[in-house]
Amino acid sequence: MAVLDIVTFPDPRLRQPTITVQEIDEGIRALVRDLTDTMYAHDGAGIAAIQVGRPERIFLVDGRVATGDPKADPVVFINPEIVETGGGVVGDDEGCLSFPGVFVEVRRPRRAKVRATDLDGRTFEIEGEGLLGRALQHEFDHLEGRLLIDMVGFVKKEMIRRRLKRWYAEQGRAPAAAL
Ligand code: NI
Repeated sequence: MAVLDIVTFPDPRLRQPTITVQEIDEGIRALVRDLTDTMYAHDGAGIAAIQVGRPERIFLVDGRVATGDPKADPVVFINPEIVETGGGVVGDDEGCLSFPGVFVEVRRPRRAKVRATDLDGRTFEIEGEGLLGRALQHEFDHLEGRLLIDMVGFVKKEMIRRRLKRWYAEQGRAPAAAL
């Protein structure tokens, strides 16, 4: 178990192609444990493997967000697919562990249904709206290399860059690429 470093925008690793998980072995189970620790340590509602620099098509959604039960374990999505979206398009504030300190309104379909494989190799589906619908789409986007900043217009893109520049300065770190 370990809390891993989060890859933050504009690190090009967030855009790297992802790979389908062929076998759920001990390496994948260890990765999921580390993702769980990392998501909780950073107080995230979800996390994708690519956010810790791993290319496997895996994401987690916080158990409370996914099931409504505050004691529930995170739900693990392996090789997920979006089955459908609907319910009209709604805007709401969204954050991302790879965009520290950024909350920005993103417009998305209200509802999403995702099919995935769980850690036991079984196929399952989850459908949600509101925060869950949004989390499912946001985390799936990570596996396609699609990020928060791609979902907003020019003015918000500039605001995101300004906030991240400030965050990197506060951390005494340089971004991995020009912001
Ligand atoms: Ni994110």
